[in-house]
Amino acid sequence: MRILVTGAGGQLGRELRRLVETETGGVCGGDGAPGGGLVGRDHDWIFADSRRLDVTNPEAVAAFWESRRPDAVINCAAFTDVDGAEAEKAKAFAVNRDGPRFLAHASARTGALLLHVSTDFVFDGRSKKPYTETDTPAPLNVYGESKLAGERAVLESGCRGAVVRTSWLYSPWGRNFVKSILTAATNAVSASCARSAVPKPELRVVADQIGRPTSAASLAAAIVKIVPPLMERNEPAALYHYCDAGDDSRAAGGVSRAEFAAEIVRKAGLDCRVVPISSAEYAATRPGSATTATATATAPATASRPEYSTLDTSKITRDLGVVPPAWRDALEDCIKLIYDGR
Ligand SMILES: NC(=O)c1ccc[n+]([C@@H]2O[C@H](COP(=O)([O-])OP(=O)(O)OC[C@H]3O[C@@H](n4cnc5c(N)ncnc54)[C@H](OP(=O)(O)O)[C@@H]3O)[C@@H](O)[C@H]2O)c1
Repeated sequence: MRILVTGAGGQLGRELRRLVETETGGVCGGDGAPGGGLVGRDHDWIFADSRRLDVTNPEAVAAFWESRRPDAVINCAAFTDVDGAEAEKAKAFAVNRDGPRFLAHASARTGALLLHVSTDFVFDGRSKKPYTETDTPAPLNVYGESKLAGERAVLESGCRGAVVRTSWLYSPWGRNFVKSILTAATNAVSASCARSAVPKPELRVVADQIGRPTSAASLAAAIVKIVPPLMERNEPAALYHYCDAGDDSRAAGGVSRAEFAAEIVRKAGLDCRVVPISSAEYAATRPGSATTATATATAPATASRPEYSTLDTSKITRDLGVVPPAWRDALEDCIKLIYDGR
């Protein structure tokens, strides 16, 4: 089987590549080199980044299909800058709607299986319980609208496969919440050490956004696991939710951004206090305006975000046997990888 990974330079694409290379002892060359061990031996993996295959170019997609003839496609290409999408709406829709549409039509035409990834940001966050696949989407921002349009393009194309929604994705690579918090906390601790008189360093992080952190590594493992059963079924693409597992003790199974940040800081062993704040307070704060011992983690948001976006993962467990790991364990693995490559 030949498996094409589009958008291979992003967080999820890199985790898929790391997974395949780990399984094959690093022999996966990234262009038709033999992969295997994950979804069976004798598979070829093609990792195509945005320079190699621009998914918004239908001629390029058609030519790629003609020359490489993939049996399965994992679409990791996306415009993921949630705030940037407000200003770059056309680009967000080109990558997040038109790209999956071109891939889905090529897949439907040739019988290839398509695994497309979407987001919890298709929901408006008004629910009080984890969202299921049958809940009605109502995106609050351009990113969510464009991702929803991409989902629909795939589901309406008639191609085989799945649309997998996920949430709060992080990895050792690219820009993400875990890395932002680690950088901000490290800077706050350094500044505090340089001025021994100041109080314990603090990070101010929003506490009114509730969701479920997901390691790109565990999402990659889940995607690879569901390829074989989906290949065996000759059915049109269906919708699934995947995120790492929550704590049963938590209300509605989610954690706040502030709780997530506190766990990141704790797992990294940084002596920094996380101060919960509201989204309104956060938006009013500018990076760099804080004292040396107090810092904000990321730039103020311009796009609205759902207050609650925990995903219910029971369908992917029931139908495809995927059991997500506990989010705290997955976070620990990622932080180890960031610090010492273990
Ligand atoms: N990040 C999150 O918190 C989050 C949460 C929920 C769902 N998701 C979804 O999960 C999936 C993976 O996200 P991620 O965090 O891995 O994204 P990412 O790190 O931003 O990677 C996206 C990749 O897509 C590539 N890309 C952009 N335009 C492209 C084009 N026209 N053709 C081909 N490739 C293109 C980018 O390449 P360049 O850098 O070269 O442009 C980048 O390498 C996405 O579908 C995303 O919507 C993400």
